Amino acid sequence: MKTTKSAGAKRLGLIPPYLFAEIDRRVQEKKRAGVDVISLGIGDPDLPTPKRIVSVLQEAAADPENHRYASYFGLAELRGAIANWYQDRFGVTLDPATEVLPTLGSKDGISHVPLALVDPGDVVLAPDPGYTVYVTGALMAGAEPYTMPLTVENSWLPDLEAIPDDVAQRARLMWLNYPNNPTAAIAEREFLIRAVDFCREHSIVLCHDAPYSEIAFDGYRPLSLFEIPGATDVGLEFHSLSKTFNMTGWRLGWVCGRADLVALIGQLKTNIDSGIFQAVQWAGVEALNGGEEETRTACDTYARRHRLVAGTLNKLGWHIKPPRATFYVWAPVPPGYDSIAFASHVLDEVGVNITPGVGFGAYGEGYFRLSVTAPDARLAEAMSRMENLSI
Ligand SMILES: Cc1ncc(COP(=O)(O)O)c(C=O)c1O
Repeated sequence: MKTTKSAGAKRLGLIPPYLFAEIDRRVQEKKRAGVDVISLGIGDPDLPTPKRIVSVLQEAAADPENHRYASYFGLAELRGAIANWYQDRFGVTLDPATEVLPTLGSKDGISHVPLALVDPGDVVLAPDPGYTVYVTGALMAGAEPYTMPLTVENSWLPDLEAIPDDVAQRARLMWLNYPNNPTAAIAEREFLIRAVDFCREHSIVLCHDAPYSEIAFDGYRPLSLFEIPGATDVGLEFHSLSKTFNMTGWRLGWVCGRADLVALIGQLKTNIDSGIFQAVQWAGVEALNGGEEETRTACDTYARRHRLVAGTLNKLGWHIKPPRATFYVWAPVPPGYDSIAFASHVLDEVGVNITPGVGFGAYGEGYFRLSVTAPDARLAEAMSRMENLSI
């Protein structure tokens, strides 16, 4: 007798549909119906990649030297530029040969790190709400994600004391992400010291995801995990050119930190991809070597937009302050709505796309996130539409 086999692997069944793919589908549906949707749903800078970086790509793309397979471990020049950037920005010394690994955007490193470091049944500690890939990466490796709730009461920092001892014993990885997506919260040095101590005590690899380290306002400079004494013994840090240089489409980031852990991720990746287009890597060298003037200018734009959004929402009854970092606004939904109902209401009534907080985890329920990465005129239009929203 013929048996029917299911087409998909069981492990995919564990993973909910990727939030942004689902949101994109709904927005496309509205657009097909003729609605002029303003999307504030995704953290994708509207500002262009600086010209000097594009020029280097154009030149490098024409050079046949760059048309062949790249090294699995990235150009030495790129690893060197990353190490120099770390030194200049954070005063942290990294060995470019062993402590830095370029990745295809930071999502590549984040999603694959559990496959390299975690066994089935191990626990992965992940913030909730949080970037969904921490949990899905753990599930794909057969690990057990354990939620560390982020709440307004604890300033969106995990309560490390609340992690039960037996969970901490079984945990192999802990994810932290500051400045934070989706809450826009920041972590002070004192919290990072406690996190390093906790991970050292329980032999947990502390993975700090820091793609927003450069998106900060009013003189605030977020810390690298490696500015904390002892952090290089327990940790890895993930960075990206995506947000700092408006390069989300280019797919370039890196993981850095403890050499043996970086080597394991490198070993895994030799079996998955075949390096990063070298022309993109040369553009990355240019990005990192060229100073931070463009990034600071972009941050002035985001800060101005944050003031506009906070001003509008506060007129409508919210009480929010512009955040110190990230291009996100994280705010409670009005009474009577859950987060999906409110996001749908805003999309249906005024054609503005925002993200329901529950998409970042159960503890995101009751909140929504919007991103100020829409052109000024579109954001202004979105805010004037919000003023007409019935709540
Ligand atoms: C917290 C966080 N980590 C990682 C990423 C992935 O960025 P990329 O893969 O473009 O470097 C994102 C993207 O939005 C993010 O918000």
